[in-house]
Amino acid sequence: MYLVRRDFEKGIETVQALTGLSQADFDLLSEVAPQATQWADELVQIFYDTLFAHYRTAAVFHTAERKEREDTLIKWYLSLFEVTDTYAFLGNQARIGLAHVRRDVHNQFMISVANKIRMCFFKKAVATYGPERGLEVAYAFGRVLDAVIGLTAEGYELLTRRALSNSTGVKPFLLDHYIHLSLDALERDLLS
Ligand code: HEM
Repeated sequence: MYLVRRDFEKGIETVQALTGLSQADFDLLSEVAPQATQWADELVQIFYDTLFAHYRTAAVFHTAERKEREDTLIKWYLSLFEVTDTYAFLGNQARIGLAHVRRDVHNQFMISVANKIRMCFFKKAVATYGPERGLEVAYAFGRVLDAVIGLTAEGYELLTRRALSNSTGVKPFLLDHYIHLSLDALERDLLS
């Protein structure tokens, strides 16, 4: 099991390197917290309106689950404005990958819907702080969001691959080998 955590920690290094996320982004978010925390309800509303309007994403949720999910996302959003340790924050995001694997929330769903939150946040930041500071704040938020999405995708992939390996007894490197062996046949189907 420690192997999964070790791989996830490599994922943390990678998302930091690729997004450029640093503690300065969280410090900036905490400066703007008095205004930006007030955008939580609208952001979360847009997010869930989008998910409930499409049959594949709506199918993920149980009846009457919306309120509970909204509360979770608001709590997560508000937590972004009080991060004092970037590494610890990113480490804690492993829970999202796990929760999403359990509920079959594919990475595609998460990546596509995140843009709704991003656009809403960007518009509000520029309207509140003007184009210069507004964009600085928006880019900081964008780096946080992309790092979380990257890590959730990493967690999803690590967990499903490791779970498949554990339950079949096939070593992860062999799974990769079998995947590569099947690709030619799949390519014909995909591109036909
Ligand atoms: C930017 C995108 C997203 C973010 C930041 C996000 C964030 C979160 C967080 C923080 C949790 C709570 C994890 C925990 O601590 O247990 C969670 C759980 C959950 N999310 Fe997401 N999520 C995203 C996208 C989605 C999408 C697209 C769906 C469905 C189509 C979804 C469905 C769920 C469900 C069903 C749970 C509850 C899992 C459970 O505990 O049963 N999420 N998400």
